[in-house]
Amino acid sequence: MTITVKKGDLLTSPAELLVLPVFENAEFDVQTLKGFNDVWKQRAAKAAKALDFSGKVGQSLSLPAPVESMADEFLLVGLGSKRLHGLEEAVREASGVMLTTAKRKGLKTLALDLSGKDFKAESAEAVALAVQLADYTFETYRKHKPAKKIDSLEILAADGRLAQAMRKHIERAQVIAGGITTARDLVNTPAQDMTPTHMAAAATQVAKSSSGIIKIKVLDTAECTKLKMGAYLAVAQGAEHEPKFIHLTYTSPRPTKKTLAVVGKGVTFDSGGLSLKPADAMMTMKCDMAGGAAVIGLFEILAKLKPRVNVHGVIAATENMVSGKSIRPGDVVRASNGKSIEILNTDAEGRLTLADAITYVLKEKPDAIIDLATLTGACMVALGEEITGLMTNNQALGKQVLEAAELAGEKMWELPLEPRYRELINSDIADLRNIPTSRYGGTLTAGLFIQEFVDGKPWVHLDIAGPAYAERPLSSYLGKGGTGHGVRTLVEFVEKF
Ligand code: BES
Ligand code: ZN
Ligand code: ZN
Repeated sequence: MTITVKKGDLLTSPAELLVLPVFENAEFDVQTLKGFNDVWKQRAAKAAKALDFSGKVGQSLSLPAPVESMADEFLLVGLGSKRLHGLEEAVREASGVMLTTAKRKGLKTLALDLSGKDFKAESAEAVALAVQLADYTFETYRKHKPAKKIDSLEILAADGRLAQAMRKHIERAQVIAGGITTARDLVNTPAQDMTPTHMAAAATQVAKSSSGIIKIKVLDTAECTKLKMGAYLAVAQGAEHEPKFIHLTYTSPRPTKKTLAVVGKGVTFDSGGLSLKPADAMMTMKCDMAGGAAVIGLFEILAKLKPRVNVHGVIAATENMVSGKSIRPGDVVRASNGKSIEILNTDAEGRLTLADAITYVLKEKPDAIIDLATLTGACMVALGEEITGLMTNNQALGKQVLEAAELAGEKMWELPLEPRYRELINSDIADLRNIPTSRYGGTLTAGLFIQEFVDGKPWVHLDIAGPAYAERPLSSYLGKGGTGHGVRTLVEFVEKF
């Protein structure tokens, strides 16, 4: 989809579908449209009343295009009440509605009026990101690919200067959407093809296309054994597909002393291992590498936005499978930081892989560590399908991530790292057990387990089990399947870090 901006108004646009965003109960927005004939405006007002269109977020109203225009159709999309805060998310929602409506009607060229005084350059970024995310489809495995993509979107700005600023923001949105699309493709690809080797190849591709700004190191089983990654390798030992430990490094072209580590869970399929999952719970488990996919998507973006901070990305990719070689409940393994772990449930494998991944990245002396993991079903029980659980040992850092998420339009909510629950992961025979002795608060005890491996460094844990994979659409602009959740927050965070 090509997205362009120019100074102008809807009536002169050659697009098939003209779109006007309106705030709630603001009929006057339509009434003041310059150049539109009175009869059309009256009809629009009448239709809005009859069909209960008041401009709420998510609402839309289709109208015939006015005779003065060259368009086929006209669409009003709601932005909700006028406010300073949160306009961008409303714009994204409205953009998603616009795009799905156009697709449904088979209209391929769109024009959107952003000449209202409430819109800034950032509004165009919100539009451009949302329409690209909404236009996403995953067709790799289909014979007949439905070619229902949108061709073009023309954004109309109030003046030439704003139009210029909007173009910069649209470019940024295109870069970010590219990274998110990469992450979604990786998550949506079935585990038969999205093996650890394939994940490593995808990460290598990102490094290759970065003209040297991103370096990659991929460690195999032998190298991980040398590094004594007993926890990660315990998960991998039951699988036919080789594990791959992926280490991406982005070095800022501008001098900086800041280093960030981002660790993504990369379990390419989680059968549960010998503590086998029930069939229904396994159906979406190709998504268990979504944290790792977000890291790969982020690096694709870093190479283009070139923020002033060094970033290490680590993914301990493996399958969690059943075989004669699988790790058994009751087995004790030793992680690379020396701590022994009694594995009482082989389905609590994510924390085992993260233990060694985080220990590994400590060598790089990061100023902060963020991990993203589809870690616990309990997090979905607590926060539902749309909200990430955030845990941190550093309130200032946690606040920065929450603010970044808010800006990015990703929902995150803090959960406590309650020290009183720490004893629930004490083992009778090892330093730790991988599942708690209580069946309550499973997300918190998983967070406490990971905390054992961060060596007191500033750290944020994101349990993305809910929003990483949408079994129903997360919003008007994020449909079913892999969502790339986390990428947008990380980009916002990295740029301010
Ligand atoms: N990958 C799952 C968590 C998950 C569940 C992610 C649903 C996305 C959707 C994780 O490895 C797991 O199986 N966790 C167990 C932990 C339990 C055994 C302590 C869980 O949540 O049941
Ligand atoms: Zn599991
Ligand atoms: Zn898992």
